[in-house]
Amino acid sequence: MLDSSMSARFTTLDFADIPGSQAYDVLVATVHPRPIAFVSSISGAGHLNLAPFSFFMVGGSNPPSLVFSPTLSAHGPKDTLRNIEETGEFVVNLVHREIAHSMNLTAKGYPHEISEWEKVGLSPLPSQLVKPPRVAESLVHFECRLFQIVSHGDGAGASRYVIGEVLAAHLAEDLWDGQAVVDAKVRPIARMGGPNYLDTAALEFFEMKRPV
Ligand SMILES: Cc1cc2nc3c(=O)[nH]c(=O)nc-3n(C[C@H](O)[C@H](O)[C@H](O)COP(=O)(O)O)c2cc1C
Repeated sequence: MLDSSMSARFTTLDFADIPGSQAYDVLVATVHPRPIAFVSSISGAGHLNLAPFSFFMVGGSNPPSLVFSPTLSAHGPKDTLRNIEETGEFVVNLVHREIAHSMNLTAKGYPHEISEWEKVGLSPLPSQLVKPPRVAESLVHFECRLFQIVSHGDGAGASRYVIGEVLAAHLAEDLWDGQAVVDAKVRPIARMGGPNYLDTAALEFFEMKRPV
């Protein structure tokens, strides 16, 4: 017999009974720390775009792949998703503390034809295999070609899993010792719940509010 006496310790939230905004709050306040994909993309018409996504993970290594989810906004697909649908290419840049503030500023909802690059003062560095540029100030860049977009749901908050095949990784000077990545030098920040972030190098929490 299964022992259900421990159930009293848990508050159960049936997601069929709570609003979507609360489901979001529960998920992001518990599934952390989350790494941040700082995604550079370009539209079919050539407009550059840059935005952060913490619904992000490695998917496999044969072939190497990454996945992130630009969820639908109340107005529909975000610019990053539209661009990747149009051109099939993107670059994932990793984020360390020194560029955290600029990264956060790019999350402001700029119109489609406005480039976040100019707004936040980051420098585009040409990629080698794809059109979207890399973030020169970032320590790690992954050039990716779209494999597939998997849709789950419709309307605000619905997932669009963007699966990218990683064509190349670029590691800043001392991150590569000739054989392997020097783990301690990657120094990523990670997303926690609310306005909280974790600086994995300093093992320190810090706060950044989303720009309005
Ligand atoms: C640290 C951080 C993580 C974020 N993670 C996500 C995410 O995983 N999915 C998402 O849809 N939006 C996420 N956002 C919000 C988007 O960055 C924001 O909607 C942005 O304006 C989208 O830009 P775009 O329309 O240029 O693609 C995040 C914002 C921040 C600051």
